[in-house]
Amino acid sequence: MKNLSTILQVAFTEAIKNAPFYNVILERFLPAEITQSSSLSFGHYQCNSILKIAQFLKISPKEIATSVLCCLDKNLERMTQSIEITSPGFINVSFSASFLAEQVKESLKDARLGVEIPIQREKVIVEFSSPNIAKELHVGHLRSTIIGDSIARLLEFLEYPVLRLNHIGDWGTQFGMLIAYLKEKEATQSYNLPSLMQSYQRAKQEFDLHEEFKKRAQQEVIALQNQDPNSLAIWEKICEASQKAYQEIYDLLDIKLAERGESFYKDQLPYIVQDLENKGLIQVSNGAKCLFFEEFKGKDGLPLPIIVQKSDGGYNYSTTDIAAMRHRIQEEKASRIIVVTDSGQTLHFQMIYRAAVAAGYLDPKKVRFDHVIFGVVLSPEGKKFKTREGSTEKLIDLIFKAIAEAKVILQQRISGLSLEELDAMSKDLGIDAIKYADLSCHRQKDYTFSYEKMLRFDGNTAPYLLYSFVRIQGIKRRVKKETCSLLRTTTIILDHPTEVALALHLRQFGEALFAMARDLLPNRLADYLYHLAEKFHAFFRDCRVEGNKLEDSRLLLCELTGRILEKGLSILGLKTLHKM
Ligand code: ARG
Repeated sequence: MKNLSTILQVAFTEAIKNAPFYNVILERFLPAEITQSSSLSFGHYQCNSILKIAQFLKISPKEIATSVLCCLDKNLERMTQSIEITSPGFINVSFSASFLAEQVKESLKDARLGVEIPIQREKVIVEFSSPNIAKELHVGHLRSTIIGDSIARLLEFLEYPVLRLNHIGDWGTQFGMLIAYLKEKEATQSYNLPSLMQSYQRAKQEFDLHEEFKKRAQQEVIALQNQDPNSLAIWEKICEASQKAYQEIYDLLDIKLAERGESFYKDQLPYIVQDLENKGLIQVSNGAKCLFFEEFKGKDGLPLPIIVQKSDGGYNYSTTDIAAMRHRIQEEKASRIIVVTDSGQTLHFQMIYRAAVAAGYLDPKKVRFDHVIFGVVLSPEGKKFKTREGSTEKLIDLIFKAIAEAKVILQQRISGLSLEELDAMSKDLGIDAIKYADLSCHRQKDYTFSYEKMLRFDGNTAPYLLYSFVRIQGIKRRVKKETCSLLRTTTIILDHPTEVALALHLRQFGEALFAMARDLLPNRLADYLYHLAEKFHAFFRDCRVEGNKLEDSRLLLCELTGRILEKGLSILGLKTLHKM
């Protein structure tokens, strides 16, 4: 099915083309710009192109609007209740209740719930989570994981080929220290992440205190880079232990990710540096091979380097990122690359993008690169998120705490749950609350983590949305009518204004998804779902369902609301509950 805005866009574009004033110069104003009206007093949608064309042609907007209306496809008359010219030169359109009713029915028959899919769907890489080996995931990685997953889920629903990549920090000089330490002190032990983190801290102390150890650590870096079997074996054990800990979190959060860490690109690094050199992009500065671009200057006004090879021959974080960019475009054939990290890496990725363009790896006309950034996580007191002991809170503890809090709430609300049921529901509710609290904020803003707020049953929270879904399931359980047969026998009638408003909003699901895909802002979808729940509650307040003569019609409205809520929540990575 076509989104309502698409139906209007096609119709208005055609009308403008067919209008007597049209000539090819006006092509720049096409396709027609259609937006949802900000308030129902301006109709459901508005066409904004008239004013621009009028200004350009120096003809009165009213005249332009009138001739566009004359050329508008007559089929629109059947669908709409009003099409009006308003000053200074907008055209406002409202769909008719009967058309919206038909559309609700069509959407229920459509496996995609009435959401059209984009015509061109190129391969997309979404890189997210990307923690560093031998360190626990922290709350910043949580944001990357949750935001990245929702973007991937959205693009998958819109039927793009999506490759989800975890760019784990598993290669680099820090491993020299750790391997040297493990070889000397704890060669026989089996590793797990907490013990590795301790070893890492001790190794760092040794490194800072003892010159001898420092030398051995540096030799280990070289040994590892030369793929010495002993060093490689320890490195592999370190990676395995870390990955096991990460996997536990991904399983808990229901996140699928292909692992492709920094080490994946290690053999390509010499080639990349050579290639950059051949292309005349390298300048040597203090023995290091660097790229310089005019637009990147430090505070002191001096040009900032991208160091791709240090004076000791080692490669950098940037070298790997340039290699990754090339690989993703040339080998993976991605047309869109999305990387999700905290906003601290903005400059880094601007420089990488610039380098990839200069090297000819990335043609901006063919490949779109999006660095999806997010702000820091704050404690309820508005400080940077720390535990009482002052260390950054471990992610897994945070998740378990939310689950525990959810359990208390569920125990208070529902009696007679079996233990297994309670555990399963607490897990879903706790994790939903964490995910939704994050996704419903504008990602670029800092976000305040509060168990109390995220688990509230009112306001823009996961429990509020889940509760709306549960209410719908309750109605369905009581009435016991099959949607399939209702669809065969029922004509939907939208009687009350809140019913029309709900039906219109249900048909705008696809537009919310397009907005999220365009801006890569999950809060666009969260806002849509929050308004959907609000509109549903208004309908439920004003329109009796059970026992009313419009019971069947209203049940179908409830059904579509339930399905869209469930699908929308699942795109954000949330699971629905059936009781609350
Ligand atoms: N490992 C990095 C960190 O924890 C994030 C990696 C981001 N991705 C990239 N391609 N550099 O900060």
